[in-house]
Amino acid sequence: MIIFDKVSKVYPNGVKGLDNVSLKIEQGEFVGIIGLSGAGKSTLIRSINRMHDITDGSLSVDGVDVESLKGKQLRSFRRQIGMIFQSFNLVTRTTVIKNVLTSFVPDLPFWRVLFGVFPKEMKIKSLEALDNMGILDKAYMRCDQLSGGQMQRVALARTLAQNPKIILADEPVAALDPVTARQVMDDFKKINKEMNISVLINIHHVDLALEYVDRIIGIKAGKIVYDGKASEIDNEILKEIYGGDLDKVGSSEDLLKRE
Ligand SMILES: Nc1ncnc2c1ncn2[C@@H]1O[C@H](COP(=O)(O)OP(=O)(O)O)[C@@H](O)[C@H]1O
Ligand SMILES: [Mg+2]
Repeated sequence: MIIFDKVSKVYPNGVKGLDNVSLKIEQGEFVGIIGLSGAGKSTLIRSINRMHDITDGSLSVDGVDVESLKGKQLRSFRRQIGMIFQSFNLVTRTTVIKNVLTSFVPDLPFWRVLFGVFPKEMKIKSLEALDNMGILDKAYMRCDQLSGGQMQRVALARTLAQNPKIILADEPVAALDPVTARQVMDDFKKINKEMNISVLINIHHVDLALEYVDRIIGIKAGKIVYDGKASEIDNEILKEIYGGDLDKVGSSEDLLKRE
């Protein structure tokens, strides 16, 4: 369980990224975080794996105070949390399998990394993760030969190979066309439902969020303004989250027509 207790994050320049946020996320939840650009979505998820420090309140994951972790403990804590980015963060000039194998680098002696000699069981785990994402046949292709959707699947396979409890995804489908975006959202849903991995996705496409996730957290200027079932979101709530400016809501025409 992830618990935010009155968490604030003030950046060194004085900007408040999060303002007194309290929330609980149970193991296995599928959560979408929505809000305008600059609302604090990235700040929220990046606090969970300590990509940055919070400045007030407390944040715990399965009873562990995230801010208290140091050195080796922090590194092993971070390994339980997968991170997926809009830009995939792959080494595109090398093969798919090598990208997945990089998830084992922290477990290996330096010479193995240097010479690219990975133990057999790690190769097997990597191939299994690729199979899980339906791209086993791409294992020995270079990443730069793949489509955007396939690259995001490689990033997901790399994350799965480390057996995460939680996956944090920061705008994972923002760079993809609508059809591919749906396929990648299907992958997140599959991972969430079949493996009981908690999935938190920052997503500015409201219609995709409502279609896929179970719970929506709406944030505005660092504050939570909605936290509840995706199925209970209506236009009033969207207006609150998006400051009345529904033009800025990512492709929600269908939603608006329902009114
Ligand atoms: N490293 C940083 N330094 C200073 N301000 C930042 C930094 N990162 C984000 N911010 C500010 O914090 C606020 C929240 O940003 P962010 O969490 O990136 O929003 P979102 O992901 O919803 O677009 C914004 O005002 C943004 O400009
Ligand atoms: Mg962001």
